[in-house]
Amino acid sequence: MSPETLNHVAIVVEDLESALRFWRDALGLKLQRTEDNPAEAVRIAFLPLGEGEIELLEPTDDDSGIARYLARRGPGMHHLCIDVDDIEAAMARLAAYDIELINETPRTREDGIRYAFIHPRSTGGVLVELYEQPR
Ligand code: CO
Repeated sequence: MSPETLNHVAIVVEDLESALRFWRDALGLKLQRTEDNPAEAVRIAFLPLGEGEIELLEPTDDDSGIARYLARRGPGMHHLCIDVDDIEAAMARLAAYDIELINETPRTREDGIRYAFIHPRSTGGVLVELYEQPR
């Protein structure tokens, strides 16, 4: 189950274009693509960095979870995501350490990636996501 790679770091922004002024234009990261995710009510910009990527999340609906996060906490880092080989094994191991999971069982995205979130209460304040890539 050992984590192999950092898949992404997700950052909540108020506006993608102004965030890209820093991440793409000034810092020089490449904007690979942007994508609308209607299910989560976010627009996402993907900027590869090393083996992983930075994801900038802009809420597209005032009622979404990300919009509420932005209203409450302001822009900033939202979560980081680590790839694991076997998400069930990873979650069982975490549970054995009394780590609080947000998702009791893995959820599956449209592209087949299975994922689960670990509660920041158990991680020292950082929301951590696990990914298991489709085989
Ligand atoms: Co994520």
